[in-house]
Amino acid sequence: MSLASASTEADQADSLRSEKGSMALTSGFLGIGLLLIICWMLPGLAQANMIHYYDFVLKEINFTRLCSSKSLLVVNESLPGPVIRVTKGDTVYVNVHNQGSYGVTIHWHGVHQPRNPWSDGPEYITQCPIEPSSNFTYEIIFSDEEGTLWWHAHSDWTRAGVHGAIVVLPSNNTGFPFPQPDAEEIVVLGSWYKGDVNAEVAEDLEAGADTPRSNSYIINGQPGDFLPCSNQSTYKWRVDYGKTYLLRLVNAAMNAELYFAIAQHSLTVVGMDGSYLKPVETDFVMISPGQTMDILVKANQPLGRYYIAARQFDSARPDVTDYDQTNATAILEYSGNYSTSSSTPIFPSSLPTYQDIKSALNFTNRLRSLADQDHPVNIPINITTRMYITVTMNNVVFDYEGVSSSALSSALNNVSWINQDTDVLLAYYRNLSGFYTTDFPDFPPSFFNFTALDVPDNATDTIQGTKVKMLDYNEEVEIVFQGTNVFDASEDHPMHLHGYTFYVVGSGGGNFDNETDPKGYNLVDPPKMNTVSVPKNGWLALRFKASNPGVWLWHCHLDRHLSWGMNTVFIVRNGDTPETSIREPPPYLPPCTGSSPIQLLHFDNSNENKLNTIN
Ligand code: C2O
Ligand code: CU
Repeated sequence: MSLASASTEADQADSLRSEKGSMALTSGFLGIGLLLIICWMLPGLAQANMIHYYDFVLKEINFTRLCSSKSLLVVNESLPGPVIRVTKGDTVYVNVHNQGSYGVTIHWHGVHQPRNPWSDGPEYITQCPIEPSSNFTYEIIFSDEEGTLWWHAHSDWTRAGVHGAIVVLPSNNTGFPFPQPDAEEIVVLGSWYKGDVNAEVAEDLEAGADTPRSNSYIINGQPGDFLPCSNQSTYKWRVDYGKTYLLRLVNAAMNAELYFAIAQHSLTVVGMDGSYLKPVETDFVMISPGQTMDILVKANQPLGRYYIAARQFDSARPDVTDYDQTNATAILEYSGNYSTSSSTPIFPSSLPTYQDIKSALNFTNRLRSLADQDHPVNIPINITTRMYITVTMNNVVFDYEGVSSSALSSALNNVSWINQDTDVLLAYYRNLSGFYTTDFPDFPPSFFNFTALDVPDNATDTIQGTKVKMLDYNEEVEIVFQGTNVFDASEDHPMHLHGYTFYVVGSGGGNFDNETDPKGYNLVDPPKMNTVSVPKNGWLALRFKASNPGVWLWHCHLDRHLSWGMNTVFIVRNGDTPETSIREPPPYLPPCTGSSPIQLLHFDNSNENKLNTIN
């Protein structure tokens, strides 16, 4: 690897970024990009693993969308933020400079970070926030990931503006498992809030009220033609007739699963969450928040302009009224000579409607691992830990001046997570007691018909706690997530595990049956993911091997559910050797002082025995 080719990659990355930063930005990017690339060879290995350096400057800048202006914290003055480009197995250092006014952390979503939870990012789980006017350098270690991933803030709801794509190219030795595409395009789907979303969320959590809804969805930072004051800035993707493009799609929306389609163009999904899939030919995809997809798109239609559209898939309510129903759009535009002035672009007729649950299931049920010689599957068979975890909306019950009261929360196995003001990783590594307990339950406190129209009253009772699950190194784990209809509030929950990918071996409607359902597991080519939606009123089974020691967050990727406590932490113990143990902490970690978690109030009087009484 010569320096010349390294700078070519840097240039490509820069030009990609300037395309993305197509809003009114001056071109004076603040040290965006690869400041330096050093190549080094592992002795005895043919492939060179590279080290890349990036600077992320977090600063509030002004944005005008939907006819109004506000300031928003973003990275390097762009929304979405800069693209990180690596080759499989590389390492990246990102120095995050916080020039904003509150503490922030960043997570590298889908990067396994072998033995390195120190740089994983979730606030109060693996680190405390990077305070204003300070900086912290993340060391992001890539291993077996290949395809598209992304990064985002993992503190409060800051990720609304602080997110971007990660591109992991295959090594030269292997290449893509499909013909080399002619070019690539990155599309990041997001949420736009007219207000100051962090402030609103903090207020809502304090008051126990529902959290804010976005005012629109955005495609590469833009709402598109169908929203007010937006049609001058609609994002455009220029294509050449005859070329095949690798579309890298990221769902960075805060609280929504999204349908996505391009008018008259078929999509071939070839990868997801940094792993390859057997090609799926489709005219739309459903992508859950947190997920990423690699999609081949052939520019093979008559020269013209075609809408690219994203629309919320809302599994919760068939009577959708109170959120943005307008489609976010961009335009796919062929280069060449044809008249664009007269014709409005064609809208994708294949885009399912808001409440179309069937299309979502039909699509996700088609996903399969590539499972070929070069990309073998390795599904745990000798399960040593089995968990059955209900994902629910719940009530926290507490005494208010002698009167039993309750507040809305969400929970896993009726435990609603509470952050402490020191992160779990530090407490674990330094053996500090009093910050978490190791009694996250393997089963819900009571069994009933979870998906019935009427669930028992006490099913809604939950306790608040900082309860983690301990796993031994290399345990083979099976988790069945069970959706519930508690509060008549069943909906999809996109569950995400840090530090790992898992195989989704089965899913279905209703209650999981531990006799019959495992017989239908796919142990041949199940899809490998880091984020998967537990279907509304249904169950989902997944497996992984606990081969990455550390402290890893498990959570619903709907931010409102995360804020309400729908998460837990898995601590994977060290193996017997230094190579199977957590690495040494970096010399500097953001100190755990200065800020305390913004979350549901921890009710001091909360009846900690409640879990026992519903047993
Ligand atoms: Cu996309 Cu816990 O993160
Ligand atoms: Cu959820």
